[in-house]
Amino acid sequence: MQTVISQTNIKSLKLLNRGKVRDIYDLGNEILIVATDRISCFDVVLPTPIPEKGRILTEMSHFWFEKTKHIISNHISPRRLEEVISNPDELAILSGRSTIAIKAKPLPVEAIVRGYISGSAWEEYKRYKTVCGLKMESNLVESSKLTEPIFTPSTKAIDGKHDENITYSQMEDIIGKELAEKIRQISKDIYIYAANYALDRGIIIADTKFEFGLLDDKLMLIDEILTPDSSRFWPKNGYEPGRPQPSFDKQFVRDYLLSIKWNKKPPAPQLPEDIVKQTTEKYKEALKRLTKFCEP
Ligand SMILES: Nc1ncnc2c1ncn2[C@@H]1O[C@H](COP(=O)(O)OP(=O)(O)OP(=O)(O)O)[C@@H](O)[C@H]1O
Ligand SMILES: [Mg+2]
Repeated sequence: MQTVISQTNIKSLKLLNRGKVRDIYDLGNEILIVATDRISCFDVVLPTPIPEKGRILTEMSHFWFEKTKHIISNHISPRRLEEVISNPDELAILSGRSTIAIKAKPLPVEAIVRGYISGSAWEEYKRYKTVCGLKMESNLVESSKLTEPIFTPSTKAIDGKHDENITYSQMEDIIGKELAEKIRQISKDIYIYAANYALDRGIIIADTKFEFGLLDDKLMLIDEILTPDSSRFWPKNGYEPGRPQPSFDKQFVRDYLLSIKWNKKPPAPQLPEDIVKQTTEKYKEALKRLTKFCEP
């Protein structure tokens, strides 16, 4: 059964947060992260949901948590949804799009790893030949692959403010040298592992963002990982440095919004049916390539 969910309202649980895409509920020592079918583009949530998106991204994130647990432990709880939700209607809505996660104390920084230069990093490089204060080689063009992935932390936005890039030494000041070094190393290790894995399946993970939390002083990976919502996914086919790359998932949406000359300010316009359909297909394709295609 296909249920399109743009917002959840689970009466039996306390809502903690509604992000751009996910609704978070309190479960005491755990949280329930619900990935809806909302999509954001140019940082604005669109009024039209994308069927299957929430389920596909949940499956993808769970896939990566499982695949990377040899590198770092993560927040996935062993409890099943049926153990926390008994109402059959609520179960139908939540099933496949939910993560029961052990509640940790989130660290106030985002751990970004970049294997390619794009977005805000490219903007900074054009002006100063640096990325988050790191001196870079001088011959990069837009979307160039870096000789080695770099770690570029940011602050975590509070109340709808934008995240701000910080230097590694600012990160050390915020969370301490020891934790900063651990997070930098682990983030790079996960990125390198996942980027190689995805590249073999035709997807370039240009950059990605991780969040970490502490549980009794133990570091763990939290939030979602390695989805197109937390990363830049580019099709490997057609990759060409020197220009922006098409986004694997949102390209149809972006092209459409640009074609109608939307000013990128809310409210965003509705999406036509064919754009919605093609976008669902792209999410399905990404999931299939990563999880079901030429499994070693
Ligand atoms: N295991 C966990 N324990 C505690 N907090 C967590 C855990 N996993 C994720 N979180 C937190 O839950 C929140 C998820 O919010 P979400 O990312 O959906 O929305 P947002 O950050 O408010 O806005 P945006 O949609 O722009 O990202 C984040 O603040 C994240 O740090
Ligand atoms: Mg967030």
